[in-house]
Amino acid sequence: MQDSLSNRKFDLTHYLNNKRNIIDQALSKIIKTNFSDCRLSSAMQYSLMASGKRLRPVLCMAAAETVGEINDDVILASCAIEMIHTYSLIHDDLPAMDDDKLRRGKPTCHIQYDEPTAVLAGDALLTLAFEILSDQPSLPKNAAIQLQIIKTIARAAGHKGMIEGQMRDIAAETVSVPLDELKRIHHLKTGALIEASVISGALLAGGTPESVIQLKIYAGNIGLAFQVIDDILNVEGDAAKMGKATGTDASRNKSTYPGLIGMEKSRQFAAELINNALHALDIFGNKANPLSALAEYIIKRER
Ligand code: IPE
Ligand code: IPE
Ligand code: MG
Ligand code: MG
Repeated sequence: MQDSLSNRKFDLTHYLNNKRNIIDQALSKIIKTNFSDCRLSSAMQYSLMASGKRLRPVLCMAAAETVGEINDDVILASCAIEMIHTYSLIHDDLPAMDDDKLRRGKPTCHIQYDEPTAVLAGDALLTLAFEILSDQPSLPKNAAIQLQIIKTIARAAGHKGMIEGQMRDIAAETVSVPLDELKRIHHLKTGALIEASVISGALLAGGTPESVIQLKIYAGNIGLAFQVIDDILNVEGDAAKMGKATGTDASRNKSTYPGLIGMEKSRQFAAELINNALHALDIFGNKANPLSALAEYIIKRER
């Protein structure tokens, strides 16, 4: 029985569509209750509701399903994480950072609006995310877990996580960095929030400490692989499919895996990371089918 279940092909396309729908509906509800008819809200909504892959919220929900069930807290945490991710993209695209003009298939926030509005829309999405995280339905029943999640996400997004990664990424434009520093940059700027997404979903669905340890190994590996693939796609991806410009890392002298070790070795490295991630899921059996499929999707993705 177990075997026949695990051999059954998992329909990731259906899974992704279903979960993206849940997130988009939940985000629309948050927009309806929190946003007003003003320029700032309009810019926040513009970037948030553009066609992102919603990978972090889907991972949060898939982790919840691996250890338990998706509940309202999981959905709200997923929305908060997507807001933090969207803010990071708005700021990442600013002229002072990567100076990009296309994101999620549309003009970047500062092109569509203006720089001050983009800075403030990012700030506002970040702070709204924490307002939403502190507003979860099961409080005060699960107050200790809620606080743990707020801290986990704050650390991942903050000066010891994503922002530190962004800082090091910028610094690495002017000096060539060794491989272990590049790995650290990737882990911080991209892996940390992906890890927090998975851990939050697992904790909010009642995951045991043992399951959270395994899921952290899974997430650390896919987080790094995700950025390695992002760098590969920046060299040879199709900008139209990705909804953002390609070739920009080289023109900005970014430190990347393809730049440092070449395309072939970068691909091999990403494949090894995905293998490590899949192994970490062994203890969950078929319950981890969505997470397994998501790990494979990360390496095969074209956008
Ligand atoms: C892009 O993230 C930025 C990185 C961390 C590499 P995604 O590729 O998940 O972007 P969206 O959310 O689909 O736009
Ligand atoms: C983005 O990294 C990381 C964050 C936004 C935290 P990149 O700058 O490499 O990603 P893209 O290529 O612009 O999406
Ligand atoms: Mg960047
Ligand atoms: Mg960028």
